[in-house]
Amino acid sequence: MAEKPWGGRFGERTDRKVEEFTESISFDRRLFEHDVRGSIAHVQMLAKVGLVTSDECAQIVRGLTDIKAEITAGNFPFVLEREDIHMHIEAALIDRLGDVGRKLHTARSRNDQVATDVKLWTRDALDRTDLGLIALQKAFVAAAERHRDLILPGYTHLQRAQPVLAPHYFLAYVEKLARDRSRLADCRKRLNVLPLGAAAMAGTTLPIDRHHVASALGFEGVAANSMDVSSDRDFAVESVFVLTMIAEHLAGWAEEWVLWSTQEFSFLALPDKLCTGSSIMPQKKNPDVLELIRGRSARVIGALTTFLVLLKGLPLAYNRDLQEDKEPLFDAFDTVEACLDLASLVVDGATLRADRIAARLDEGFLDATTLMEHLIGQGIPQRTAHEVIGHLVALCVQQNIHRLADLPDADFVKAHPKLGPGTKDLLGVENAVKAFKSYGSTAPKEVEAQLKGWKERLS
Ligand code: ARG
Repeated sequence: MAEKPWGGRFGERTDRKVEEFTESISFDRRLFEHDVRGSIAHVQMLAKVGLVTSDECAQIVRGLTDIKAEITAGNFPFVLEREDIHMHIEAALIDRLGDVGRKLHTARSRNDQVATDVKLWTRDALDRTDLGLIALQKAFVAAAERHRDLILPGYTHLQRAQPVLAPHYFLAYVEKLARDRSRLADCRKRLNVLPLGAAAMAGTTLPIDRHHVASALGFEGVAANSMDVSSDRDFAVESVFVLTMIAEHLAGWAEEWVLWSTQEFSFLALPDKLCTGSSIMPQKKNPDVLELIRGRSARVIGALTTFLVLLKGLPLAYNRDLQEDKEPLFDAFDTVEACLDLASLVVDGATLRADRIAARLDEGFLDATTLMEHLIGQGIPQRTAHEVIGHLVALCVQQNIHRLADLPDADFVKAHPKLGPGTKDLLGVENAVKAFKSYGSTAPKEVEAQLKGWKERLS
């Protein structure tokens, strides 16, 4: 039996079932690099304040570096008796260095150690996620450029609403991802405060220098209350919330593109290499990547729920429940990172089918609102103008006419004297798009400026 570092007051061996139930090594081994990083910063601080000699410090740093290399190479033995990654690394160090290794845990507890490790891991994961968000933003901007002059039907309630330029559509997702990036940056900032040195829960009587550790590990501050810090997983909840928002954005987009790739829409062409087939229907080509991006949002939302329920009602300082933080945290990051990666691949590989989209732009009276605003521009009250154009649309529907422009001139003047000659020059999706003016609208000039701005910001 490997001796437990906490075994001093125990008279019998731990029940095997308890070891199996309480272990976290099966999943927290992922923290090994961060654990070593934290321990090196810790022991260097211990040397600085005189709690270990500089020779002892050098031995410990070398030992930890070797252990890290062994774990990386895959020839480090993991055993259930050593519970978690923190105990594994410390025990391996003691195996190598004896009494010198036994000094590493001075002025430290696993409670502040695990909080530090999880923060370091999460900080790196947030940075990786940010790169994934930037890559996807770039993919959307490139798609906007590839479809510069294409007009799309815009939808509300999934019913045809108004025409929009394709770049306007793509940049909508760039904006959503920009908010995700800014949420992520906020979260990273609040996370970036060092827990280590809080020790078990009350701090330590030893003369440690926490600010030294903080700057060695790139933390911007030091947690000011030792009772708060080892129970604090706010940063994990916030991170998972940020991930949930990303997953929600991706799921909405994926749903849209699943629809767009149907025969009925035929807006989207996906390359074969990004689709999969059916084992029974030979003709099938399915958008499974998009469906799975939509589906995997469930795991991330689930992780957020797990966290909120896990932390609800926990008393101050460390409670073993907190060990349950890792699996949902890791899974949420893994899921979102993979979804972002695949989303970039799909956006890069997909083409909007300009011919199929253009062929049906006359359906759905996409220019009706523009015509209404033309009347408003001539001093007609909005409610009146709305009614006038509504009657014209009804007239079309009754006579099975698809475009307002196909109504006889006389119907326009009859509907309102201000709809005289020249009215038809305003109709059709091209004219409708050109008529937009407001900031943030689909006006060609506005969209051009937005596209230029995003290209600059993302270069
Ligand atoms: N494996 C534990 C966790 O992940 C480490 C901290 C354990 N602390 C303790 N006092 N038992 O939370």
